Amino acid sequence: MMRIDKLLGHSGYGTRREIKVLCRHGDVTVNGAACTDSGVKVNPAADTVAVRGEVVQYREFYYLMLNKPAGVVTATEDKRSETVLDLLPPLFRAARLFPVGRLDKDTTGLLLLTNDGAWAHNIITPKNSVTKVYVAETEGDVPADLNERFAAGIILADGLQCLPADIRQIRENTFEITVCEGKFHQVKRMCAAVDLHVTALHRRSVGALALDESLAPGAYRMLADKEVILPLLGQ
Ligand code: URA
Repeated sequence: MMRIDKLLGHSGYGTRREIKVLCRHGDVTVNGAACTDSGVKVNPAADTVAVRGEVVQYREFYYLMLNKPAGVVTATEDKRSETVLDLLPPLFRAARLFPVGRLDKDTTGLLLLTNDGAWAHNIITPKNSVTKVYVAETEGDVPADLNERFAAGIILADGLQCLPADIRQIRENTFEITVCEGKFHQVKRMCAAVDLHVTALHRRSVGALALDESLAPGAYRMLADKEVILPLLGQ
């Protein structure tokens, strides 16, 4: 059972105070009967809650994929820049979604968002070694031993040792890079360690979940139930 103001707040119907007013005005019904008390407890799985006749589709957890565009920061709030949460309808802010991991402001591609902390943790934790596939456009001469150096584990400029990673040239100056950890600016710093400067970076997949190519930059969709497990599976 949960309070109706909590259920409605989570579903994007406003603050507790605003929901109190909605209830007082008789705009909220539970199983067809007006609910004037915003402190009433309901069973989200069994009771039908409606606001001005519109049935509220309550979900505890949301799982979204966003095709992150360049120029947007991976955060829920930022004083100066637009955030990935600003790209979503207000419902998702009300439901307290947050990004799973981080892409740089200029990085594009697959970003997951959720309000399920356990799911996010399982994707991020180094223990699970979830693979991430990036496409990097670069400038600079390609070293002859590029693949071997990535396979052996790159040592970053500050001496940090990376785990073995995979790099494959897919076009001139363009590489597909697979990493299974998430250090700060990892791909750019790994490339810098072999004298390649990354000019554009795009994430294609997380685990076995690939970006839906039908999503334009800035567009999102919910994951289908059967997709929710995919980030945690090998590809
Ligand atoms: N590696 C980077 O350098 N930047 C990203 O945004 C993601 C991985």
